[in-house]
Amino acid sequence: METVKKLEQIKKEFEEEISSCRGEKELEDIRIRYLGRKGELTSVLRSLSGLSPEEKREVGKKANIFKNEFSSRIDSLKSELEEKEEEDTPGYDITLPGTAPSEGSVHPITRVMGRISDIFVSLGFRIADGPEVESEFYNFEALNIPLDHPSRDAFDTFYVEGEYLLRSHTSNVQIHIMQEEEPPLQVIMPGRVYRPDAVDATHSFMFHQVEGLMVGEDIRFSDLKGVLSLFCKSMFGKDIKMRLRPHFFPFTEPSAEVDISCIICGGKGCRVCSGNGWLEILGAGMVNPRVFEAVGYDPGKYTGFAFGMGVERIAMLLYGIDDIRLFYENDIRFLEQFR
Ligand code: DAH
Repeated sequence: METVKKLEQIKKEFEEEISSCRGEKELEDIRIRYLGRKGELTSVLRSLSGLSPEEKREVGKKANIFKNEFSSRIDSLKSELEEKEEEDTPGYDITLPGTAPSEGSVHPITRVMGRISDIFVSLGFRIADGPEVESEFYNFEALNIPLDHPSRDAFDTFYVEGEYLLRSHTSNVQIHIMQEEEPPLQVIMPGRVYRPDAVDATHSFMFHQVEGLMVGEDIRFSDLKGVLSLFCKSMFGKDIKMRLRPHFFPFTEPSAEVDISCIICGGKGCRVCSGNGWLEILGAGMVNPRVFEAVGYDPGKYTGFAFGMGVERIAMLLYGIDDIRLFYENDIRFLEQFR
């Protein structure tokens, strides 16, 4: 029964090897070692001829059982290993570059408002906010624009309900600030404004302004000029020239429109400045004593200046944009240029 013992020994070794087997290559080696043409089990089967008939039957039977057992163990381990390999392999190529998430950018109007604000903040102004839905008092009356005055036409307005309207300029915030606080004041007031204008390349029913106000005991026209000229140089470049043209605004006296030398042609005259070399960028003046009276300030004690500028206009000049509608269309091809 030597051979039977040998068979048992082979089986024991096979069991040990198969239970420590971890890879397909190793498994194939085991298969060859036990079931291959010159394998352990095969050579036992080959040697059957030299045995007694009784032994032959017993050994033959056992060897065949082992052979089937070995090969089914090998097959099942093989499919187990294959499955595991599939699980470990990702269904994609990990060496490919990833898809970058699309990055947003600051809207050009927000960006320009930020730059304007930074300049005034560096000059000691603070930033304030005010309502967009406003009463006639704040948008008109307190700013010395009486109901029947033709200057109201210049600030054509969307009415909401009764005496409420969408503010037609940011000047309303001046009134709120002055009602709530005493001078000295140095404030800028950025925000949205609304006018029922037909939309075209230079008009929109909604746009942005930055209002400014400085009030104190000895604020002069020269302070207005100094602050605005510093602003223009910081915003448009140190070689920019500024000029003040007399104008009329009900809330300031005297009033001026402020021009800068054309940032495209440097003042020689081009399409952007309509050939005259200057670009109008804001309105300004010394606060009208009537406005001080409306908020309860003593006009004999305080003086001040105010100004208001359109943000879209400045952004269009800075970036060379020729159609205001581009700001509101949310077209990524336009917006992604402002990074
Ligand atoms: N509110 C004026 C407008 O919308 C702009 C303006 C002009 C504001 C002169 C001012 C100012 O504060 O003093 O056209």
